[in-house]
Amino acid sequence: MTGSLASNYASWKQLQEIYDKDRAKIVLRDLFAADPQRFSKLSATYNSQSGPGVQILLDYSKHLVTEPILQKLFNLLREAKVEDARDKMFSGEHINTSEDRAVLHVALRNFNDFSIKEEGVDEVSKVLQHMKEFSESVRSGQWKGYTGKTINTIVNIGIGGSDLGPVMVTEALKPFSKRDLNAHFVSNIDGTHIAETLRLCDPERTLFIVASKTFTTQETITNAESARDWFLGFAKDKAHVAKHFVALSTNTSAVTAFGISEANMFQFWDWVGGRYSLWSAIGLSIALVIGFDNFEKLLRGAHAMDQHFKTTPLEKNLPAIMAALGIWYNDFYGAQTLALLPYDQYLHKFADYFQQGDMESNGKFITKNGDRVNYQTGPIIWGASGTNGQHSFYQLIHQGTKIIPADFMAPATSHNPIANSKHHRILLSNFFAQPEALAFGKTEEEVRKELGQNASEALVKSKVFEGNRPSSSLMFDKLDPATLGALIALYEHKIFVQGVVWGINSFDQMGVELGKVLAKQILAQLDKSDDVKGHDSSTTGLIHWYQAHRKE
Ligand code: F6P
Repeated sequence: MTGSLASNYASWKQLQEIYDKDRAKIVLRDLFAADPQRFSKLSATYNSQSGPGVQILLDYSKHLVTEPILQKLFNLLREAKVEDARDKMFSGEHINTSEDRAVLHVALRNFNDFSIKEEGVDEVSKVLQHMKEFSESVRSGQWKGYTGKTINTIVNIGIGGSDLGPVMVTEALKPFSKRDLNAHFVSNIDGTHIAETLRLCDPERTLFIVASKTFTTQETITNAESARDWFLGFAKDKAHVAKHFVALSTNTSAVTAFGISEANMFQFWDWVGGRYSLWSAIGLSIALVIGFDNFEKLLRGAHAMDQHFKTTPLEKNLPAIMAALGIWYNDFYGAQTLALLPYDQYLHKFADYFQQGDMESNGKFITKNGDRVNYQTGPIIWGASGTNGQHSFYQLIHQGTKIIPADFMAPATSHNPIANSKHHRILLSNFFAQPEALAFGKTEEEVRKELGQNASEALVKSKVFEGNRPSSSLMFDKLDPATLGALIALYEHKIFVQGVVWGINSFDQMGVELGKVLAKQILAQLDKSDDVKGHDSSTTGLIHWYQAHRKE
């Protein structure tokens, strides 16, 4: 693989030619008018083949594609050997080449369905059993704090993948939560985060879950130490830590050095990437909040999507379809971003979660072979739940100068059918209206007709919607654990497919290192202004300004 995809793949070149020559002809109004079957041709339904039944409808008819373009996109995936790469991932090959690791989050939700030879895989069920027993004993009140009281608050201390997955999932599955168990998530090194959280905690009834794959992450360890100091300020005796602190990690020696016994440690393995870890022991806070049975349904929902991804031809394979469309916009239309727009308040952290999931995976300019790419890789991921976003940034999506592909998603049924489901019907009417407005817009002629002859030219022009703005619509029955599991796995595999086509390693994250190293150096220089050495004038100036102004 060189850094040029046009020279590697014939289909890339063909897609470029189509884009250059026919772009102006790809008009959604015309495409829909010409083919009344467009929706049935360009939509796919996912029906889980195993586990709890899940159905997901993907409508991709409102995309700037024709059937020949789609075919070329699937050819591209085949030329990039996506299926081969997928099989390598599932079989445990070390596809994370820079770190020489397997990529096996799929093994965490496999339930011994297919065999994978990799150290640790046969321990997955043992850890799940440990999580089950522990979560059940806390939830039932059997697990007691140091004064014999039950636990009523959990605090997950972690950052990145050790935080975002549990946060997103516990928010998404709130209807399944134990409402009398408070759950807090502390991630930021800013002392405000832990301080404000501790204000809400009773030391006799709080369980701290220190979640860190490496157990060396500065934010997490510092927050955990502060939590332990706070706790010992009440409990006094270090022996009581065992009742109030557990660890989720791959690093046993660092966990025991912190003072958490191995018995209170939930293990996982280096083949679980941080941003793919909610399925592992990192999901303990999820199991505590929604119960282990629901956690298992989440896993089974994801596993069924894994099977779909593994066995379905690319043309009907949801992750592959979404990946192909993303490449079309990212690499040919020059779209910079992808908006994730869930019309489900419970999914309000979905975009935050996949900011890490996608951007830490595919935000890379070097191929696996070390070449610099001369094409675009991972998109910027952003978004907010509907209808909030409509009153904020949708203006730009409708009438701005940028192309913003968007994924709309919504449940057919709400968990909160209040006022005879009036809210949900209004919500869904917006969910249906926005992609329609984006795709078909409003012509000048239509605006003139509406405004009458006396309208100023400027007003007429400002009310025109060009349309032709692409989106996917995803619908599912109701947001339950299995459906959420399937949705997350769907996006994980989409990211995987795109990484394969772009020839990058989606499973390392070298780009976060430099800032961490510099911060450590700077921390050692913050006390005295004479110590501030080795920086540019801007950084030096900023540190000196801080040193002159601080009052602590
Ligand atoms: O930001 C870099 C990163 O390594 C992420 O990939 C990871 O999810 C996060 O830090 C937290 O790492 P850990 O779980 O080791 O504390």
